Amino acid sequence: MSDRPTVPQIRARKVRDGAEPLVMVTAYDAPSARIADAGGVDLILVGDSLAMVALGYDDTLTVTIDDMAHHTAAVARAKPGALIVGDLPWMSYHTGPHDAVRNAATLVRAGAQAIKLEGGAKRVPVIDAIVDAEIPVMGHLGLTPQSMHAMGGFRVQAKTSDAAMALVEEAKALEHAGCFSIVLEGIPDVVANLVTESVSVPTIGIGAGAGTDGQVLVFTDLLGLDPSRPPKFVRRYAEGYDHLTGAVAGYVADVRSGAFPADAETYHASAETTETLAIYGGTPGDS
Ligand code: KIV
Repeated sequence: MSDRPTVPQIRARKVRDGAEPLVMVTAYDAPSARIADAGGVDLILVGDSLAMVALGYDDTLTVTIDDMAHHTAAVARAKPGALIVGDLPWMSYHTGPHDAVRNAATLVRAGAQAIKLEGGAKRVPVIDAIVDAEIPVMGHLGLTPQSMHAMGGFRVQAKTSDAAMALVEEAKALEHAGCFSIVLEGIPDVVANLVTESVSVPTIGIGAGAGTDGQVLVFTDLLGLDPSRPPKFVRRYAEGYDHLTGAVAGYVADVRSGAFPADAETYHASAETTETLAIYGGTPGDS
């Protein structure tokens, strides 16, 4: 665990100015936060991907601010050295600045140091209000899963030059509203590079190529915990599903064969108690 980076330190991390790329990963509870932190990430995002990767829903639209606060608090209790970003879920900021500030504060009180929300220029009034309440905001552009119905599914965005130029304007609007960084999801690398060049705050890519100021991956994707085929942009750094199911199968086999628990995994009473209990039929273990 390293010293937690501050929001101004993160804001200053532009690769073109010589900074190292930012590394962010999602986490949803204390064990995943500890693993992410021990791995040395700069930021932990308690993403609303929680819905799909931890709670078993088909999309992210189902999680509520209470769900997000519950899991943000679990991550915070691991006391990671990484900066914790809490994701505002769908409909927690779409109804206006007042609700947005109140819900952002809920995540801060749960332990987040910053919040993330999806969308461009139309979110500026909400971002203004949250920043005005002294809560740092991370933007999120491109493939924004909370807009899945409006986008017609999870599709790569900004594939035309007009859409790419519009995305640059959206990013500038987020920068001017005070976002300290911007996630760019599911866009061609050339578009991500243009956005990254056009703003002074760091961009953090997921499915946006190698030219952003940082990368973010979902915890379960990175560790291969989901047996289904991952999207193209994912690199698995472990085959966690195979490894962990192998471990459980080992446990099952050991219990069934009598190999678990062994003596070293067993509590023993004193010789005197063991002897007394033997009168009543208590049989000592193998040792
Ligand atoms: O919820 C999430 O995990 C995210 C990342 C994919 C950026 O928003």
